[in-house]
Amino acid sequence: MDFNKVVEGRRSVRKFTDHVVTDAQLNEALESLRYTPSWANSQCWEIIAIRDNEVMKQLAEESYPKNPATKCSLTASLILVACYDKTKSGFYKGHSFNDVGTWGMFDLGMACQALSLKLHEMGLGSVVVGAYDSTKAKEILNIDGDYEIAAIMPVGKPVAETPMPKRREVSEFLHIDKLK
Ligand SMILES: Cc1cc2nc3c(=O)[nH]c(=O)nc-3n(C[C@H](O)[C@H](O)[C@H](O)COP(=O)(O)O)c2cc1C
Repeated sequence: MDFNKVVEGRRSVRKFTDHVVTDAQLNEALESLRYTPSWANSQCWEIIAIRDNEVMKQLAEESYPKNPATKCSLTASLILVACYDKTKSGFYKGHSFNDVGTWGMFDLGMACQALSLKLHEMGLGSVVVGAYDSTKAKEILNIDGDYEIAAIMPVGKPVAETPMPKRREVSEFLHIDKLK
């Protein structure tokens, strides 16, 4: 698919058909994630692929009921949980390189974007879910120590095309030389 078509056509998908995302499709999508750039090539991502309906249900029960993505988590055949080792990205010889402190999240944002674009190119849809109770989700998924969740992504075949939410024009966010 043409690059612009992939970038402009990708939407957050919150309604899936009953198509079961296969392991081959999952692997194909993760192959694209592998090429994501990362801090000093740290590749700090760990991806949990949830297939068990019981685990999906537990996760949905601990999500905010008003979140529009909560319902689709219950109908997805696959939920990906993008985690990262927070000690890996942004550090040099064990010391924080600067005060940004969130390079792990940055790396994972790029990784999730690669994933969501590839899924779209494959005719699948996903939504990045950021509003959930991370303490409870980590408990359910046995995530501890240095690992954090960056995003939860239900994946499936879109039921219908979703209209694009309004985008800011380039002229609204481009600043020359200084912000103000
Ligand atoms: C970091 C992040 C967190 C998000 N969290 C949620 C969420 O909790 N629930 C939800 O329904 N959508 C969530 N979204 C999807 C956004 O609402 C969506 O990307 C935005 O409205 C633009 O729509 P589009 O992705 O279809 O272009 C999130 C997106 C990002 C990047």
